[in-house]
Amino acid sequence: MIPLRFAVLASGGGSNLQALLDRIRSGDLPAEHVFTVSNNSQAKALERTRNAGALAFHISSKTEGSEEGVVSKLLELIDHHPVDLLVLAGYMKKVPPAVLHRLKNRVVNVHPALLPSFGGAGFYGERVHEAVVQSRCEFTGVTIHMVNENYDDGQIILQRKVRVPAGADAKTVGQLVLEKEHDSYWRVLKAFADGDVVSTDSDNPAEAVRINPEWLQRMSELD
Ligand code: GRF
Repeated sequence: MIPLRFAVLASGGGSNLQALLDRIRSGDLPAEHVFTVSNNSQAKALERTRNAGALAFHISSKTEGSEEGVVSKLLELIDHHPVDLLVLAGYMKKVPPAVLHRLKNRVVNVHPALLPSFGGAGFYGERVHEAVVQSRCEFTGVTIHMVNENYDDGQIILQRKVRVPAGADAKTVGQLVLEKEHDSYWRVLKAFADGDVVSTDSDNPAEAVRINPEWLQRMSELD
């Protein structure tokens, strides 16, 4: 089997990236991590990438002189290091339309709630979990979805629920959700590698990927 080649965009801690790297190392995920880009020079994701022997790039409007410069640099990287999938893992910037166009229907994101609830502009980081706690939801969870030009709006590939413990604060909820993210993202990448999720060339955002119903059924049996 040819391993899935992927790149990562990350702004922060990169624990999701690390979980993917760990699954590659353990043999669970037949994939090759090619490079990581961060808009933040201090992102731990860059350090994790270097430690794993992959390419790590700090790219921002400061390093490139402008937002247009960032777009050119990202496109150049994608051209020089072709990938099957672009994986967003805590990337706090919008992916430029030109990049989405170049990697049509091949950009995925993980969101720490059950979209469409607690998604869209303004719902990031701890704010998501604070809103969940304030709404007294019994469940929150993880959504892994395709990326298009609107925040948190692409086709959903996988959702997994997390029970909100009575009286839990946002920090606790966030930790529980992050654990579930770590157990979920690699499964979606593996599904791409195995052909259970296949990118289409459709212009309809609701049909960005074809998902094998048997795979979805298997995922629904996870806790
Ligand atoms: C995760 O909660 C993810 O859902 C969100 O940003 C966070 C990134 O965490 N998009 P990490 O950098 O992977 O630790």
